[in-house]
Amino acid sequence: MTTPKRYTITAALPYTNGPVHIGHLAGVYVPADIYARFQRIKGNEVAYICGSDEHGVPITIKAKKEGVTPQQVVDKYHAMIKASFKEFGISFDNYSRTSAKIHHDTASEFFKKLYEEGKFIEETNQQLYDAEANQFLADRFVVGTCPKCGFEESYGDQCENCGTSHNATDLINPKSAITGNTPSLKETKHWFLPLDQYEPFLREWILEGHKEDWKPNVYGQVKSWVDDGLRPRAVTRDLDWGIPVPVAGGEGKVLYVWFDAPIGYISSTKEWAAAKGIDWEPYWKDKDTKLLHFIGKDNIVFHCIIFPSMLKAEGSYVLPENVPANEFLNLEGNKISTSKNWAVWLHEYLEDFPGKQDVLRYTLTANAPESKDNDFTWKDFQARNNNELVAIFGNFINRVVVLTNKYYDGQVPSAGSFSDVDEDTLAMLQKYPQIISKSIERYRFREALVELMNLARLGNKYLADEEPWKVVKTDPDRVQTIMFIALQIASGLAVLCEPFLPFTAAKLKTILSFSTLDAPLNWDDIKTKNNLLPANHNIGKAELLFAKIEDEEVQQQLDKLQASKQANEAANKTVAPQKDTIGFDDFTKLDMRVGTILEATKVPKTKKLLQLKVDVGIDVRTIVSGIAESFSADEIIGQRVTVLCNLAPRTLRGVESQGMILMTDTPDGKLAFIEPENESVANGEQVS
Ligand code: MF3
Ligand code: ZN
Repeated sequence: MTTPKRYTITAALPYTNGPVHIGHLAGVYVPADIYARFQRIKGNEVAYICGSDEHGVPITIKAKKEGVTPQQVVDKYHAMIKASFKEFGISFDNYSRTSAKIHHDTASEFFKKLYEEGKFIEETNQQLYDAEANQFLADRFVVGTCPKCGFEESYGDQCENCGTSHNATDLINPKSAITGNTPSLKETKHWFLPLDQYEPFLREWILEGHKEDWKPNVYGQVKSWVDDGLRPRAVTRDLDWGIPVPVAGGEGKVLYVWFDAPIGYISSTKEWAAAKGIDWEPYWKDKDTKLLHFIGKDNIVFHCIIFPSMLKAEGSYVLPENVPANEFLNLEGNKISTSKNWAVWLHEYLEDFPGKQDVLRYTLTANAPESKDNDFTWKDFQARNNNELVAIFGNFINRVVVLTNKYYDGQVPSAGSFSDVDEDTLAMLQKYPQIISKSIERYRFREALVELMNLARLGNKYLADEEPWKVVKTDPDRVQTIMFIALQIASGLAVLCEPFLPFTAAKLKTILSFSTLDAPLNWDDIKTKNNLLPANHNIGKAELLFAKIEDEEVQQQLDKLQASKQANEAANKTVAPQKDTIGFDDFTKLDMRVGTILEATKVPKTKKLLQLKVDVGIDVRTIVSGIAESFSADEIIGQRVTVLCNLAPRTLRGVESQGMILMTDTPDGKLAFIEPENESVANGEQVS
C-alpha cells in the first residue's frame, strides 16, 4: 500500500458576471473534476478548490448596465454558478466567493505582508483617466490597440487576441469603455510587484525545471513572455469595487482583481478546512503537497508568472507542480460569447436534457480543447451519445444485466474453467486501471476516455463472440462462465467510469448492487481481483443508462442558436448614415409605382438574377432583379412590389431590364419586398 499523497487542485474562479456555459466546463471544471475524483478514488488526500471571482471591472460594468449594485450582480450569479456546478457533479470540496470575509482578510494580510517586507515598489505616475466619468481607466474600462499584436479591441490589462498582459498605458489609441472618450493622463499612486526581479526564479523553476512535464502550450507562452522581458505590474487600482488597499495611502484604492482572486484559492481552502476542523496549512505549505491549477489559456500569465511570483515573494507557500491549461472550445464554428449569447448555458441544457449531465461531460471530454481550440457541434453531441454511450457502453451493460436476470434470476453464476479467450479478456480488464491512470496523470483526459470506452468495447466484443444467447441452448455450463466474465467487466466499468461519468457510475453501482459487497471496490482492485463480483452476489434489475437523442432534439438546439444569432445581428446592425440632401425637384423626378410580378424565371448561369415580367399599370415590362438568393422564381408570382420605372434601361446578361424593384434587408441577411399595406391599391399607382 503506497502512502497517500496530498493534492490541492484548484479550478479557475469564474467571473460572476454571467452564468456558466459549456466552454467553462470543457476547459476547466470537467478536466479538474476528473482529476480530483481520480485521485480520491486512488485513496489520495484531495482538496478540490474553487469559488466565485466577484471583483473586477466586468462586474461593475454589468451592474451599471442593469442599474443594480455590483453586490446584486454577484449574488445572483454566484448562486446560479454554484448550482450549475453542483448539478453537473463538479465535486468541489469547497466553493467559496471572493466577497467572503475570510477572503478579504486573507488577501489583505497577504498584501500587508508583502508591503511590510518591502516587496512592492510604490510609485506615483500617470494613469489613464476619463474626466467625464470622473474615473481612472484600468483593465476593462479601457480598450485600445494591443502593442504586441495590433488587435484593436485589447483591454487595459490583457489582450484577448494574443493573451499578452500589459499596462493600460501601453495601449495604442486608448478609448474609455464608459464614455468612448480618449482618456487623459492623471497622476496617482500605486504599488507594483517588480516582476523583472522574479525573472531568474521563473526561468529556473519553469523554463529549466518544467520543460518536459508542462504542456507545450503553457510552457511556450511562459517562455515567450519571459524572453520578452518582464516589467513591474501594478497590483492596486483606483476603483471602488474590490478589496480596499489595507495600508496607509491606500484610501479609495482596491487590490487589482488578479492580485486578490488567486488568493481566493487559499481562502477557499481555509474556509473548507475550518468547516472540517482540520489544518489548512499543509495544503499550501507542505513541500510534499502537489498544487495544481486547472485554467483556460487566457489565464496562463496570471497562474504561471504573477501568482507564483506573489507566492515566492511571500515565501512560505509551495509552487504549482503543474498548470494544465486548456485551449478554447468554440460552438458550431464560432467563438463562445456571453455578450452575444452564443453559448450553451448549463442551466438551459439541463432544462432541455434533464438527467443527461453525463452525456455532456462525455462529449466535452471526448472533444476537449486539450492541445488546440476545438468545436462543439450538436451533431457530434448526438453522434457521441447514440453511437458511443448508447450503442457501446449502454448496450453492453444492458445485455449483461438482462441476461443475468433472465438466466440466473440476478445471481452471479460461478465460473467453470476458463478458455484462452476468457483468460485474455480478464487479463485485458486488469490492465485498464493502469492504462487509464497513465493518461489521467498526464492530463490527457480525451485519451483516458477513449480507453474507458475500449473496455466497454472489449465487453461488447466478448459477448458478441461468445454468444451466450445461442450457447445457452447447448451448453448452459459454459454460459455461466461467459456471464461471470461479462459481469466482471461491467464491474470494472462501474469503478473506472466514475471520474468521467459520475452519475452513470452511481447508477451502475446500484444496478450491480455494489452496496451489498463485503468491501467497496476500488480502482486498484480491478488490477488484482479476479472476482470483483463474486458468485452468488445478487444484482438488481436492468435500467437504461443512456437513451437515444433524436434529430428533433438536436434541431431545436440549432434553431435556438440561430435565433440568438439573428437577435444579435439585428441588435448590432449599424444603421447606414443619411445620404446627402436632395431637392424636392430631384425627388419628383423618380417615377415609382406599385406593380405585381406576373412571371419569374432564373437567368441561366447566374446565382442572383431572376428575370421578371411585372405589371406596372402603364405596361407589363421585363425587369432583371438580383433577388434569387432570397426567393425562388415560383414563390413570387403574384407578389406586390414597388418599382422604380423611369430608371434608364440596362442590359444584364443579355436581357434588357426596364426598371428596378425596390427591396430592403432582413436581419438574417435576406431581402424583403416593399409592398402596399392595402391590397386594393391598383398597379400603376404612384409612390409619392
Ligand atoms: N475570473 C478569472 C476568469 O474567469 C479567473 C480567475 S482565476 C484566479 O478568467 F486565479 F484568479 F482565481
Ligand atoms: Zn494582442
